[in-house]
Amino acid sequence: MSNIHTLQKIFPAGFDNGYGSLKLLVDGNDIVRVPSYISTADMEDVPGRVIFNGSAYTVGESAFRTGYHFDRNTDNNENKVNNALLTLLGALAHLPQRRAWHLKLVVSLHDVGLAEELKQVLNGEYQPILAGKLSDVKIEILKVVPEGMGALFGHQLPKKLTVLDFGNGTTLYSRYNQGKREVHTPYPIGVEVLIDDISQKMKHLNGGKVGDASKIRYCLEIGHTKYSRDMDIKDVYTACLKDWYEKYLKKVVNLTLDAKHQGDEIWAIGGGCLLPGFKKLLEKNGFHILDNPVEANAFGLLEMAKAIMNKNPTSTFGR
Ligand SMILES: Nc1ncnc2c1ncn2[C@@H]1O[C@H](COP(=O)(O)OP(=O)(O)OP(=O)(O)O)[C@@H](O)[C@H]1O
Ligand SMILES: [Mg+2]
Repeated sequence: MSNIHTLQKIFPAGFDNGYGSLKLLVDGNDIVRVPSYISTADMEDVPGRVIFNGSAYTVGESAFRTGYHFDRNTDNNENKVNNALLTLLGALAHLPQRRAWHLKLVVSLHDVGLAEELKQVLNGEYQPILAGKLSDVKIEILKVVPEGMGALFGHQLPKKLTVLDFGNGTTLYSRYNQGKREVHTPYPIGVEVLIDDISQKMKHLNGGKVGDASKIRYCLEIGHTKYSRDMDIKDVYTACLKDWYEKYLKKVVNLTLDAKHQGDEIWAIGGGCLLPGFKKLLEKNGFHILDNPVEANAFGLLEMAKAIMNKNPTSTFGR
């Protein structure tokens, strides 16, 4: 972080407004990756706290920990667009404070048909209070790209390539020929469906009550199945994973295996690849799981922003 001059205002950045977690990567800073939760509960100036347009809210870990009043990015299909400014400001409120941020942003979206709407929501100048400090924020969208494409940027691509992105709300199937995208199909099923199913099927372990989805997600992300100090949901998880795969994913995985049969390399990204037991299954079937599959897209988006700025240097010194 030491390479940022205090007077620097203009920053290339990449933003992946995921249904499960937000990823914001601003040049020269650590990546912000926080759960896609928004809470309006009263709170101190924690990371993720924003006061903007007369309302106060918190994005991320603290919102998730309050356990109530939260609005998930995943609750509605168009939330990625509608909540984008709130979640972006909330993500920014996790970074070291600055008086001014001028972000030159590349953003990814599962449905590029909504790109214009997303630009309208994000582009502009704002004066939010970020974690207790007033800041001038200017947002300029350089480009909106289909989700997952960021992860490929800078890679030497094989001639024929099929990529599956196992997201929280969406599973994306994309096929490329000579680096050009031929197909990009979002299926509205992701890890969230698995987690919901687990929460229902674990009732017998949980005194008859539905399990808490955020707690299930938390333990799976750490890589185990201990829901609480004294409850392991391993058997329920294993059965639900199998069901989830058979019911929803088999079809798209089979499409990908067909592509492999036709000479494609098959790559996988998204947090779903890291689910306990699932990674092995994918690798056994010939998938190459990209390094850091959860954040790979955001890292590529930042590189795209830098490349665009380098191509048009005159437009990058606007302020
Ligand atoms: N290290 C991990 N191990 C296991 N599961 C993980 C891990 N990291 C993330 N996940 C789970 O994988 C799922 C997908 O994570 P990811 O961050 O790719 O989704 P997203 O980008 O937020 O969602 P979408 O792409 O649908 O908008 C989430 O449900 C998350 O809980
Ligand atoms: Mg994603």
